[in-house]
Formats: sequence, structure tokens, C-alpha cells
Amino acid sequence: EEGIGTDARIVVEKPFGTDLDSARELNGVVREVFDESQVYRIDHYMGKETVQNILVLRFANALFEPLWNRRYVDHVELTVAEDIGIEGRGRFYERTGALRDVMQTHLFQVITFLTMEPPPAFEAYQLRDETLKVLRAMRPISPSDVVRGQYRGYRDEPGVAADSQVETFAALRTHIDNWRWAGVPFYLRAGKRMGRRVAEATVVFQDVPHLLFEREGIAGMAPNRLTIRIQPDEGISLSFMVQRPGLGIRLDGAALDFDYGQAFAGSPLVEAYEQLLLDAMHGDPTLFIRQQNLERAWEILDPVFREPPRVREYEPGSWGPEEADALIAPRRWETR
Ligand code: BG6
Repeated sequence: EEGIGTDARIVVEKPFGTDLDSARELNGVVREVFDESQVYRIDHYMGKETVQNILVLRFANALFEPLWNRRYVDHVELTVAEDIGIEGRGRFYERTGALRDVMQTHLFQVITFLTMEPPPAFEAYQLRDETLKVLRAMRPISPSDVVRGQYRGYRDEPGVAADSQVETFAALRTHIDNWRWAGVPFYLRAGKRMGRRVAEATVVFQDVPHLLFEREGIAGMAPNRLTIRIQPDEGISLSFMVQRPGLGIRLDGAALDFDYGQAFAGSPLVEAYEQLLLDAMHGDPTLFIRQQNLERAWEILDPVFREPPRVREYEPGSWGPEEADALIAPRRWETR
């Protein structure tokens, strides 16, 4: 009641509410005691070095940014797959599901870093103003652009209802309606008990405007792709076409590959929470979630929570229900 001193800080772990209304309500409760500047909402993906590296890749290099727009990019994919299930967290997960647990949080954060405009400085207010702008441009998700899945066996987990409709997998398609991204589809996918543990984003560039090689030589032709591997095997790889040795022109795919482990052997990546908790102690909110950004992220998913599409079963160890392949068709998921 005496008010909390201005140098006091509160670190809040997600989930920050379960939808727009509950997030607003929760914020109201926090704001009775703390000022927004004292609230540090953690999304640990922001603490991952490979997520921060998206900004370094984009804004400390001259090479990529000129191509980073609707004129050269065909589509963008982001996959966050886990091989584990819910690990005994049935009661928590029954109130959450993949859309709330990771899509609204981790995947949206990564997408904002991939798509935001360059802020004038790497500084808390400017950076989060830019991420807010791009979230505002992100189209609220239509339920028909979402696939929800549930792995077979989820309903047998302790704490899970026998007729649970909670999704352990979600895939969606969205657009960012601004000058940079108009018309470029973004495909986001997250799930538990999938083929393998992998989090990566792939920017797929457009086809060349005209192909001058003969049909028999172009069998392996594929568009350029830039893949940012968030985990594991952290790194970046850029695929392009080369001439395969032999007579005549025959195209083949090749890649330039940057691997954190090899390049910086002996300097392990910093643990995400280590970075973020230290930032909170130093009073640096750059990598924390502002209330406005949080509310906008809920708003984007609001139509899906109002009319959730039917949940589809998938085999543990697979890449989710087949409807997710139909969602991206005629393109296909790059991460497999
Ligand atoms: C957490 C989710 O925020 O992120 C978990 O609540 C998920 O369900 C975890 O397993 C994934 O984090 P990481 O760092 O292992 O990709």
C-alpha cells in the first residue's frame, strides 16, 4: 500500500493471460502496484543468442536487407518443433495449448525480428516501437488459416481430459500488410512429439525471372533459401545453385553454411534466462515484452480463440496432421 520503490522490478513469466481480456485484466492487477517501466515480461526466446542474431544478420550486413522484402521473398517459414511431449505438465497444458504456449509468444517474437523495420538504435523503446508496428501490420488470423493438431496418446497423459480438444500442434498462415511485406505469406508451425527437436526460420526467395538453361539440366533447380537455425546446431545456411561437374550444363544445389559451434568453439552460447535475468537486474528492458505488444499479439489470435478449428490427431514422431501440408500447398514445409 505504501507503493513499491521505483527501483523495484518485477519479472513476470508467461503465460501473460490466456486471451486479450485476461491479459488486460492481469495487467490491471500488476499496474495497481507497479509502473509499466518496472515490469519485465520474459519470453525466453528473446534471450536466445540465435534469435538476437537475426537482428545482427539483418542490420549489420549490407547484403541481405536489400532483398528482404516482397520483391525478392516468396514466403517465410518458421518451425518450432519439439520431440518431447508435455512432460507431466498436463494440468498446465490443458489450460494452454500450443497457440497460447508458444505461438503467441516465441513464434510471434521471432517473426517480429524477421520482419520489423530497422530501429534507429538497439535500444528498448525504439526496438519495441518497431516490433509493435509490425505486429499491428500482422493480419489477425482467420480460423480457416489455422490447423490444430493433437498427438495420439495426449489424452492418456496425467491431468488431461479423456475428450480434450487442446492442441499440441498448431500451424497457421498469415500476412503482414505493409509496404515491405504485402502479398508475402508467412507460415508458422509449432508442435510437440514431432519428428525431431528443431527451431528454424527459412526465407524462401523468388524464382529467377527467366531461366536460360535447357530442360534436362535443370532437374535440381530450387529457389535460394536462407535458413536461420535457432536450435539445435545453431547456425545459418544459404542455399544456391551451382554447375554440377560433368559435360554440359547441369544445375545442382549447394550451401554456404555457418555453424556457431565450429566458428566459436570454446565460447558456448549463453543460456537465454542468464541473459534476460541479468538484463532485468541491470534495468535494461530491451528484450522484454511491453504490454502494448503483448495485447496486440493476443488480438492477432483472438479470432481463432473465438472459433477454434477442429483438432486433428497426428502420430507422435510425425510432422503434425496432414492438413498442415494442405495449408502451405502448393508450397511445402522446408523443415522436415
Ligand atoms: C516454453 C513452453 O515456454 O518453451 C514449453 O512453455 C516449451 O512448452 C518450451 O517446451 C520450449 O523452449 P526451448 O527453449 O526448449 O525451445
